[in-house]
Amino acid sequence: QLDVSDFLRQHIRTVPDWPSTGVQFRDITPLLQDPRVFRVLIDAFVHRYMAPGLRPDVVAGLDARGFIIGAVVAYELNVGFVPIRKKGKLPFTTVAETYELEYGSATVELHTDAISNGQKVLLIDDLIATGGTMIAGIKLLERLGGIVTECAVIVDLPELGGSAKLAQTGKPLFKLVEFD
Ligand code: PRP
Ligand code: HPA
Repeated sequence: QLDVSDFLRQHIRTVPDWPSTGVQFRDITPLLQDPRVFRVLIDAFVHRYMAPGLRPDVVAGLDARGFIIGAVVAYELNVGFVPIRKKGKLPFTTVAETYELEYGSATVELHTDAISNGQKVLLIDDLIATGGTMIAGIKLLERLGGIVTECAVIVDLPELGGSAKLAQTGKPLFKLVEFD
């Protein structure tokens, strides 16, 4: 008997030394490529967030791989989708958050009219590593009056500390697969 987490884990490809030496890159593209696996993946999220107490008003996705999952989940939940984008991509007025990377910093942006006050938001990405991206996303959504009810990822890399850092904010994290 194979549970969903094991099934998905078996379809994530690990690429050694990419993008730099010593990194074991967890590549989710095989999950998307096989329609059978893609359906298991999406249904795992949809099943959880269809439940009346967990159903969000809107799904937000993080650039770029969070868009692939987030948009499909939003469609299935029959709620809207809003993209949180890397700096300089959104054309209307935006709010921005800058966060630290291992070397340097990154900025993400959200349209100021993307969220209305009191909306319950599910924030989705493919993976949490150091947690900087996810926490910046929460800040943007909450600056517009959104209530981030949960964060969801396919993959957690707990050794990089992001899920622990997120736990300190009090936001729940739903993850399908962990890699040490
Ligand atoms: C990756 C990943 C997450 C983020 C996680 O995206 O898809 O969004 O990094 O890292 P963190 O927890 O340390 O912030 P990346 O910046 O590589 O962008 P991409 O999706 O456009 O490839
Ligand atoms: N896979 C995908 N995205 C990532 C990773 C990884 O291993 N580490 C940081 N972002």
